[in-house]
Amino acid sequence: MSTLAGKNILITGGAVRLGAAMARAVAAAGGNLLIHYNDSKNDATALQAELQASGATAHLLQADLNDAQQASQLIPQASQYGKLFALVNSAAIFEDLKLQDTDLAAWQRHLEINLTAPFLLSQAFWRAAGGAPGRIVNMLDWRASRPGPDHLPYTVSKVGLAGLTRSLAAAMAPNITVNAIALGAILPPSDGAGAEGILENVPAGRWATLDEVSQTLLFLLAGPSYITGEIIHLDGGRHLV
Ligand SMILES: NC(=O)c1ccc[n+]([C@@H]2O[C@H](COP(=O)([O-])OP(=O)(O)OC[C@H]3O[C@@H](n4cnc5c(N)ncnc54)[C@H](OP(=O)(O)O)[C@@H]3O)[C@@H](O)[C@H]2O)c1
Repeated sequence: MSTLAGKNILITGGAVRLGAAMARAVAAAGGNLLIHYNDSKNDATALQAELQASGATAHLLQADLNDAQQASQLIPQASQYGKLFALVNSAAIFEDLKLQDTDLAAWQRHLEINLTAPFLLSQAFWRAAGGAPGRIVNMLDWRASRPGPDHLPYTVSKVGLAGLTRSLAAAMAPNITVNAIALGAILPPSDGAGAEGILENVPAGRWATLDEVSQTLLFLLAGPSYITGEIIHLDGGRHLV
């Protein structure tokens, strides 16, 4: 594994839940953090203080990724703190919408935040890199491998992000690797739905730990640069059954 020491890493949606866990792991590995948030200003500020108290470098950046203009500005703003080494596209929305519930606004909201924003950020990251080595990691969902009728616009946005991962891996070679982590049952759903019954379809029979997410992220950030276009399922086998 190479080191992340002194490298600038932007995590979108980095103030809470998985984003915050990944930020803590990157900081512990020596990386300098650019933590993006939208509404979670208090959480972002508290996380920044926590990381700085541990000796890490952490800067905060606010942007509504449902606004392409704001999404386009995020990489230039982050680059004010020095050249970025990595971009982690974690910010997303996850709404419990079936076909009959999905109106045009919900469809566009999911595609904008979960797919268009990662595209705009990745393109801007690639341009800013100017040929320097870098890494992009996209947070996917097992549903991208087995799209079904639940969470329909969310699922389609993640299918798109899986395709974008592979397209960009080819487009950005050889300097920038683009990989993804397809998650299963990590934290109870953010859409407010209950967590009952989720483990019935998880062959591993348990929830993942946040540490397992962090280990996988660190592997893709600091592991072999010959791995690109890869989607690692961290889902206890959920996509298989
Ligand atoms: N949790 C799981 O078990 C699980 C399972 C499968 C896949 N995933 C994927 O893993 C990633 C992280 O999961 P999570 O559960 O931690 O996510 P989450 O809590 O649902 O949301 C992550 C972040 O997205 C940001 N976000 C939402 N709307 C935004 C907007 N309009 N503009 C900018 N940021 C916005 C939020 O930022 P603010 O709070 O600052 O507004 C939030 O902190 C997501 O991509 C998710 O799809 C998670």
